[in-house]
Amino acid sequence: MKHTSGDKLWQGRSSGEVADITVEMGQSIDLDIQLYREDIQGSRAHARMLHKIGILQQSELDSILEGLSQVEGEIAARQLPLQPELEDIHTHVENRLIELIGDPARKLHTARSRNDQVAVDTHLFVKKKSRELRFLLLDLCRDLLKQAEDNIDVTIPAYTHLQVAQPARLSHPLMAHFWAFFRDAERLQFVFDQANRLPLGSGACLGVNYDTDREFLMQELDFGSIYENSMDAVASRDHILNFLYATALLGVHASRIAEEIILWCSVEFSFLKLPDSVTTGSSIMPQKKNPDLAELIRGKAGRLNGNLMNLMMAVKGLPLAYNRDLQEDRQPLLDSAYQAELVIRGLRAMVQGMQFQPQNMQQSLEKGYATATDLADALVSQKNLAFREAHHAVGRLVAICEEHGYSLTNVPAAERQKAHPDFGDDSFYLPAVDPATSADRKRSRGGTARPRIQEQLKKAHQCLEEAG
Ligand code: ARG
Repeated sequence: MKHTSGDKLWQGRSSGEVADITVEMGQSIDLDIQLYREDIQGSRAHARMLHKIGILQQSELDSILEGLSQVEGEIAARQLPLQPELEDIHTHVENRLIELIGDPARKLHTARSRNDQVAVDTHLFVKKKSRELRFLLLDLCRDLLKQAEDNIDVTIPAYTHLQVAQPARLSHPLMAHFWAFFRDAERLQFVFDQANRLPLGSGACLGVNYDTDREFLMQELDFGSIYENSMDAVASRDHILNFLYATALLGVHASRIAEEIILWCSVEFSFLKLPDSVTTGSSIMPQKKNPDLAELIRGKAGRLNGNLMNLMMAVKGLPLAYNRDLQEDRQPLLDSAYQAELVIRGLRAMVQGMQFQPQNMQQSLEKGYATATDLADALVSQKNLAFREAHHAVGRLVAICEEHGYSLTNVPAAERQKAHPDFGDDSFYLPAVDPATSADRKRSRGGTARPRIQEQLKKAHQCLEEAG
């Protein structure tokens, strides 16, 4: 099928036929229909501005505003047929408006280009989504904080190299994830702030031949400032790239807690049970309870980062100002906005439902000799040994334990003495290797001792309150 250019906005110049491939490749309506609210919001403001500067009569403005509301209702009700030959959301809205109200609608594109229109649509969208995601993330932070508070007296191994390191209060790793997500929320605020700049009024790229009132547009559309340079305004996709970076890093953070959830749910760890509502069974293995949601979240990190790279590469090397390549911004933007929301909602469902298994954590602490450093530190502080010597003595003890299958808490005094004479003394040795009291010795600021954790939880509450 050939498409005549007669029904196009740019019909004036061209008279030939348009090939299928031009239509198929050129259309973005399949995606940017999702921006219809922003597009219509922009058109309303633009129409009011045109009236203010004397280009539209009151009656024309009224009929445009009424028509736009009708178009908006039709799109919301999925009644407006989407036509690839009409390319994008801007053309669909304008075309339908012309069908509905005739002549006044033909004036709406005065002093405006689709280049600044698409920019305003995506700025409004980024503002809306960065705000929504920020609030969702703060809710996730609240969920993590609650778990951290409820489990302050549970002890879990902390890991380095995925090898048992030292005993931690469970609140500690939970809050480590909290702060990463809290920074993501702060980053989304930055994304919002940078998108809070009006591109409309830039025209195709150099401004327009009318006394466009950009301050008025700024107020109508609730932007905080105006792009100083019209070429920058239509050529930049920084607002979207910021958003994609923020959601990509959020995806990376999400993948890290997801990975821990997956590990902790395994038989080998058994630190955690998830409710049935966020797990699935296997079609063949009756015993299975799979943490699919966590795995899907871990997988989304690739997609969110792919979206960032996708647009980075599309923008790289583009000459000023608008180029059609920029239409590629829609797919990553819309996809990341939705996927990031799914990721946060999925995490919330899991975090809220976490059921910890402290007795299994205890076993890992024992098996992993988690208090070995404490024992070395006890030699340093109570027996005046140099740390390096103390380290060797405990190393010898761990080797003995490994050989005979003991833990630091059940190895007999006679065996202990072989590693260091002071290890034979119960009153010195036993408190030093007690996993329950180890955490509270980490009393440096930001450490895992109870009072330090409590300070951290308090600070987290304050931060959440300030963030709204
Ligand atoms: N469909 C285009 C987009 O979504 C609108 C801008 C087109 N501008 C142009 N000069 N062809 O980016």
